[in-house]
Amino acid sequence: MTAVLEEMRRGALLELEKAETLAAVECWRLSYLGKKGAVAQALARIPGLPPADRRSFGAAVNDIKRALEAALEERRKTLQEVEVARSVESGRIDVTLPGRRPLMGGLHPVTKMVREICAAFASMGFQVVEGPEVEWDYYNFEALNIPKDHPARDMWDTFWMDYKNEQGDRPMLLRTHTSPMQIRVMEKTRPPVRVVVPGRCYRYEATDATHESMLYQIEGLAVDEGITLADLKGTLYEFAKKLFGKERRVRFRCDYFPFVEPGAEMAIDCFACQGKGCRLCSDTGWIEILGAGMVHPDVLRRVGYDPDVFTGFAFGLGAERVTMLRYDIEDIRHFYANDLRFLRQF
Ligand code: PHE
Repeated sequence: MTAVLEEMRRGALLELEKAETLAAVECWRLSYLGKKGAVAQALARIPGLPPADRRSFGAAVNDIKRALEAALEERRKTLQEVEVARSVESGRIDVTLPGRRPLMGGLHPVTKMVREICAAFASMGFQVVEGPEVEWDYYNFEALNIPKDHPARDMWDTFWMDYKNEQGDRPMLLRTHTSPMQIRVMEKTRPPVRVVVPGRCYRYEATDATHESMLYQIEGLAVDEGITLADLKGTLYEFAKKLFGKERRVRFRCDYFPFVEPGAEMAIDCFACQGKGCRLCSDTGWIEILGAGMVHPDVLRRVGYDPDVFTGFAFGLGAERVTMLRYDIEDIRHFYANDLRFLRQF
């Protein structure tokens, strides 16, 4: 009888050694130590034994039971350690892998340039202000000496909307330039005035390499006693040197804008062909970057400034053009095509 029990014990321990996973160990436990397992079956045979054998048989089975339970605990512990080690190994963090860069946005090249230009003028004592993109006809045109039916309106065709109220129809538009802010600023303040106004402008325009229907301008205005054309030239020349370096050549020529007298345009020698003439500069060797002039006496009078006491200069600068000059960009349409391959370069 004890030989049979001894055989069961040996066989059980051998099988347990072969159980390689916790699941296999659990199967083993059920077949030996479970309710219907081998140990339980052996105990169930006790009542059928001759009374003299019962005690020693029962004791022997219980011995085996304890031995198997102890072996089970041991095996479980070992396998648990192995499994933990294995999962740590497979899930290990490789600190030598390059990190994943967080996706970072950046400022648009034109925004950067607008900020840089404003900073350049701020360093010369100009204040930065902003104004509405949807503007009254009065500020965009009338107050700037461009009455209805004035041919100069053709220079700035735009998108119109009608605004009706008690006073009747008041024509409203997407501003074609930042110049209306000259009027708004002067209406609210007394000289000395020194402001730059960055902002979006809109034009009804056939787009090409140097023209877009939406563009950024930076307006400048300085009004005080005794300001002359020399101040205008000096300020803008200083600005051009700050932004493009001393070697860049600058050209001033007479130009016409109804709200200045005299009027001028400033151009910079073409970066693409170094002034030889190419598609970008329409074979002229120069790229016009701003319009400027001495504020017209009628404009000053309209906002209540006495033109015999105060004089001033104003300028309007195309931000995209300047950005193109700075970064050798050959087509203005790149800015607003939303192509990240282009935008990520800045
Ligand atoms: N507003 C003019 C334009 O858009 C530029 C300009 C501004 C000219 C100020 C003279 C003075 O073309």
